[in-house]
Amino acid sequence: MKKHLLNRREFAARCAAFGMLAVEASAQVPGTSAPSKLPARTVRLPDGTVVTALGQGCWHLGQGRHPQEVEEAALRTGIALGMTLLDTSGNYGRGRSEEFLSHVLAGQRDRIFLVSKVEGDEVSGDGIAHACAASLARLGTDYLDLYLLHWPIPSAQFPGVVAGFEKLRAAGRIRAWGVSNFSVGQMEELLRVPEGHRCATNQVPYSLNRRQIEADVLPWCRQHNVPVMAYSPLGGDKNLVIGDRTLAQIGAAHGCSAAAIALAWVIRSGNVIAIPESGSPDHVRENAVALSTALTPQDLQALNGAFPGPSGAS
Ligand SMILES: NC(=O)c1ccc[n+]([C@@H]2O[C@H](COP(=O)([O-])OP(=O)(O)OC[C@H]3O[C@@H](n4cnc5c(N)ncnc54)[C@H](OP(=O)(O)O)[C@@H]3O)[C@@H](O)[C@H]2O)c1
Repeated sequence: MKKHLLNRREFAARCAAFGMLAVEASAQVPGTSAPSKLPARTVRLPDGTVVTALGQGCWHLGQGRHPQEVEEAALRTGIALGMTLLDTSGNYGRGRSEEFLSHVLAGQRDRIFLVSKVEGDEVSGDGIAHACAASLARLGTDYLDLYLLHWPIPSAQFPGVVAGFEKLRAAGRIRAWGVSNFSVGQMEELLRVPEGHRCATNQVPYSLNRRQIEADVLPWCRQHNVPVMAYSPLGGDKNLVIGDRTLAQIGAAHGCSAAAIALAWVIRSGNVIAIPESGSPDHVRENAVALSTALTPQDLQALNGAFPGPSGAS
């Protein structure tokens, strides 16, 4: 029999089909309280591209927090376990995060869904194209899967930014574009711009101890078919949720860590991608378990009690 190795797109497409079947299967056993495992979760972007629901953030990587070879091993471990979306930015460590990533991308670029970002003060004139070219050079690749505007800018600048992104997309330098830290009002303004509907994601903070988007951005994005990319999904460096007792108890019941439960909660809906950062292979192994962990209604209730969301949230 002829063997055919799947590239990232083919692999993702098969995962998606499998993942959807699994979600349907779990939905057919209502009321079960037994901890269960799901095949890896995925999220479908508006253009039909299917990505893993659990990526890896790279903000502090390549900057000496851990030895470089340990951080490389951490990312490779995550990739091998299905965390194939990598999130960086041209301004993380003044380009050092992207330079570091070039070592991890080498030889496996087509397995990775690569996300980078442009800053608001770089977008005038041909700025987006220049910033993108600089990121590609640092990353050692000739395309980004997704390019994000890092922080909101005045809405009068939206048409120019969208046009700049679309030019890069037509040239094959980026495959999709999106935004980050946008409010509902800014998303509404963006959709009024020609081609603004092509926005592939809004990357915003979301974790058990930071649930504000449940009151506005999250339902708006669900309604408009724009997946959310959750940054700081463990609460971020200074406010990590993983020491919480309820998380530890639920983790013990599922045979996994508190971190895995916190991440499984973030990606529970099928419309949210989480991008935890870790430079530790052991932590990444723990985190990857979230991809196959299904929380029960009782788990969700306990987590709601321990980490109340904003009033009026669904
Ligand atoms: N768009 C934006 O404005 C924006 C803003 C902030 C962040 N981001 C993106 O989101 C990514 C993640 O956000 P973040 O770094 O703020 O927060 P985070 O992922 O919630 O937390 C990262 C921290 O968690 C630790 N950690 C990870 N897994 C762990 C585990 N299993 N057990 C114990 N500790 C664990 C990491 O330390 P170790 O390395 O020791 O594991 C690190 O200190 C960033 O890398 C970046 O790509 C985007």
